[in-house]
Amino acid sequence: MDKLKIAFFDAKDYDKQSFIESNADGEFDITFLETRLTSDTVKLAEGCDIVCVFVNDDINRDVIDKLSELGVKLVALRCAGYNNVDVEYAYGKVHIVRVPAYSPYAVAEHAMALLLTSIRRIHKAYIRTKDFNFSLNGLTGFDLHGKTVGVIGTGKIGRIFIDICRGFGMNIIAYDKFPAADSGIEYVSLDELWERSDIISFHCPLTEENRHMVNTDTIAKMKKGVVLINTSRGALIDSEALLEGIKQRKIGAACLDVYEEESNIFFHDYSGHIVNDDTLARLISMPNVIVTSHQAFLTNEALKNIADTTLENIRGFFAKDTCPNEVCYKCANLANCKQTHEKKCF
Ligand code: NAI
Repeated sequence: MDKLKIAFFDAKDYDKQSFIESNADGEFDITFLETRLTSDTVKLAEGCDIVCVFVNDDINRDVIDKLSELGVKLVALRCAGYNNVDVEYAYGKVHIVRVPAYSPYAVAEHAMALLLTSIRRIHKAYIRTKDFNFSLNGLTGFDLHGKTVGVIGTGKIGRIFIDICRGFGMNIIAYDKFPAADSGIEYVSLDELWERSDIISFHCPLTEENRHMVNTDTIAKMKKGVVLINTSRGALIDSEALLEGIKQRKIGAACLDVYEEESNIFFHDYSGHIVNDDTLARLISMPNVIVTSHQAFLTNEALKNIADTTLENIRGFFAKDTCPNEVCYKCANLANCKQTHEKKCF
């Protein structure tokens, strides 16, 4: 049998390294493409059986139709979230698989790293001491011990983040659309979470329903000085409203690993260029905002798991007719796509 051909979109050096290692025996024929998958670039998948994509590739209706015309059988997401895929439209045309978990620790630990950096002003101290400025003025932080953290989404990442916060002696409250029974977690309504939390961390998927769940109205309900941490998806937060909340001194700090308009910006080097996104530029200019560019997943362990699971998803789909990591809108409609079945969804 001919080798299966994979068009690998939005390839970065770290992706190439981990996939080349996982494919060391040359089982798959992988073409690494630097461009993102869009309606304009989909033709590059011609002759391939699979497209492998990441968070900012756009698998919309047009792309799905064109992939189907080209005979591509499988979209292999090398990430967990699938908000960039029109899953319902894809049903019956092209199968979608993902990597549901590669290192929830990586993301949860990054969330805590952002929080500690922010509230202990490490980002400021680092620059000062590099310049032999040993002044402490303006570096006063606050203890995490005894503070209340509100966690939105108590799945794999949210639960690990909760465990980390427990280690710091914090009080935990949480909101989840589907609370985990017998978890010992204190679930509250969203309104109560906004009102009681000193720190709020987002660990839920982005859906149409929760887009801009942080907006002018919800910010008004939060405590003055609240710290927001978003390692989930950018559009959970209305960035304009966030900026206004910061300017009004209502929001104490924001730690953002994701941004709603990140797709054309994150993962690229724009140093020396003029960035046209005024909202992002203004947010970055704030002393109490830390931005990392969708970096939370980026650990050696996660990259290896992503490559191994993606290739196993592809192997299983073509060789064994199994598809435990398939995403289909029918499963997704079961709310939290538990993927209890092993076989393909159609
Ligand atoms: P998971 O599926 O294990 O947990 C998600 C939780 O959110 C579930 O408990 C679910 O019931 C809950 N949920 C679903 N809809 C909700 C809603 N509308 N409101 C509140 N809760 C809701 O997912 P996991 O692995 O913990 O990942 C969480 C999110 O983290 C992903 O959806 C993805 O967006 C983001 N992520 C970010 C990464 C990064 O590098 N920044 C890397 C990996 C994931």
